[in-house]
Amino acid sequence: MQSVALLGVTTLALVLALAAPPKEEGEKKEEKPRADIATDDNLDLPNYDLSLDSYGEIIDLSLYEELYDYSDLAPKWRCELGRAREESVTAPIPARCCWLTAPSLPAPGLPTCLVCVCLGTSMYCDDAELEQIPPLPLETTYLYARFNRISRIRASDFARLKKLKRIDLTSNFISWVDEASFQQLSTLQELILAENRLTALPALPSSVVRLDARRNRIQSSGVRPEAFRELKKLQFLHLSDNKLDCIPVPLPEGLRSLHLQNNNIRTMHKDTFCDSQDHGHIRWALEDIRLDHNPINLSLFPDAYFCLPRLPTGHFY
Ligand SMILES: *[C@@H]1O[C@H](CO)[C@@H](O)[C@H](O)[C@H]1NC(C)=O
Repeated sequence: MQSVALLGVTTLALVLALAAPPKEEGEKKEEKPRADIATDDNLDLPNYDLSLDSYGEIIDLSLYEELYDYSDLAPKWRCELGRAREESVTAPIPARCCWLTAPSLPAPGLPTCLVCVCLGTSMYCDDAELEQIPPLPLETTYLYARFNRISRIRASDFARLKKLKRIDLTSNFISWVDEASFQQLSTLQELILAENRLTALPALPSSVVRLDARRNRIQSSGVRPEAFRELKKLQFLHLSDNKLDCIPVPLPEGLRSLHLQNNNIRTMHKDTFCDSQDHGHIRWALEDIRLDHNPINLSLFPDAYFCLPRLPTGHFY
């Protein structure tokens, strides 16, 4: 009788033991998303399974720099550590490289086209025949994409790059900037859009210190009224070689350098620089005003300069 009872207990234990594995499998499944942390929904990395056999592959994920902003646009980018040493890259060897991994690129084994070089959080994408802003790592602080063929800035291009301090897009074909492409970048200090085809200025975040949009086609109708009033940190406003026919006002108090040479400015108001009601007010910062090569006779506005530490450069006929 006793042995039969013991057998019963053993059977029960055995049944419980057999019932256990599905529960373990369930736990395993729940862990799966953790292995996928390094992949974004839009990133076509293999689907890693958390088993001992594939553990090595999971470890390889550490080669990819954590979470990058992979947009759903081809080509796809990934940043890898160490690859630069394997490929023959001329010195100095960049710490990280962004490699274009689009299928259209040269056969595997060849050094893939090095489009952007990352040095720390600076991205160098100069002279790479880019037609749009490439997907960039989220921690990008300095972006250089000069001498490309970018024609449009889309609102989504920088939307998730909250650490950008400088964007340099000198010498592209930019003629259109979506509203709010830059406005939400609350750490952006320098925006360089020189040598493009802009007819209007984009809205800027209040953090901006330097705006350089020289050598474009900007008209006064493309500058919103009081566009610079709230830009309290703006120190350098360079809009030379455009099609402006008036000086944008009001100018922020901290402005140090205003370059408007080679425009179509014919006239100004006596309050453009100074407050005619407040003769005690001196604009100590504004030492560099260039109005040369404009069809304006600066002698016609003798009351316009009393607050300036230095007269503007230009024609006093
Ligand atoms: C510029 O303005 C001054 C002061 O009114 C005047 O004497 C001078 O003739 C003007 N020059 C030209 C080229 O219009």
